[in-house]
Amino acid sequence: MSDSVAALFQRLTQGVYVVGVAHGEARNVFTAAWVMQVSFDPLLLALSINPQHSSYGLLKQSRAFSVNVLKKGQMELAAHFGRPARGDKLAFTEWTAGRAGTPLLGEALAWFECQVVSEYPAGDHVLVLGEVIDGKLVDTKAEPMAYHDTGAMDGASALFPEHFGNAETGAIDGASALSPRVSAMHHVATPRFFKNQGALQPTKRINPTETTPRRCFPGSPAC
Ligand SMILES: Cc1cc2nc3c(=O)[nH]c(=O)nc-3n(C[C@H](O)[C@H](O)[C@H](O)COP(=O)(O)O)c2cc1C
Repeated sequence: MSDSVAALFQRLTQGVYVVGVAHGEARNVFTAAWVMQVSFDPLLLALSINPQHSSYGLLKQSRAFSVNVLKKGQMELAAHFGRPARGDKLAFTEWTAGRAGTPLLGEALAWFECQVVSEYPAGDHVLVLGEVIDGKLVDTKAEPMAYHDTGAMDGASALFPEHFGNAETGAIDGASALSPRVSAMHHVATPRFFKNQGALQPTKRINPTETTPRRCFPGSPAC
């Protein structure tokens, strides 16, 4: 386990979001921390998504996604939507369809709806840029949840490298982090989230009760 590296990365301030996708009658949502604003004009949000998530197929087809901002304390929602779909993940949740049909959660602090404008490969993820076409601040009093608050929920500590470069020093704090070898390692050896095996396959991925998180995924280049 590389808990120290995972703990370091958890200090990068990130929120916790529920990303919604829909195409035709099919819909899905998943928890995401890798979301950020990247432009004013046009207004763009970036989302980094594991292309093996079942949600990715729907996003590719509809070219739209929603970003629902979670509130501090909504841990159960974050954990529930952070697991792969076994049936309709939205079954017990109040939601409405946005202008592009994507799910907007009634319990969210705020939501955005985005039209996909471009995609870029990003290591084991895909970076999706979405132009914001709608949005609403639902609860002006609540505080947004921070990724740091989710602790080990996503099992990410098993997916970081043990060290940044020099295994003997094991440094996570200094010069070794700047060596060229490091970036090479990061690109080839650090799949991030537990992954699905195909569109809407109910594959076990994130289970907070699991003691041995899986590092290598069928079909992944790291296997
Ligand atoms: C706190 C947390 C943050 C996460 N952040 C992301 C993320 O930014 N990008 C991503 O692709 N998956 C992320 N995941 C993993 C997905 O939520 C998870 O794999 C989910 O099962 C995917 O759902 P799907 O297969 O039904 O699409 C995160 C999970 C958790 C619990």
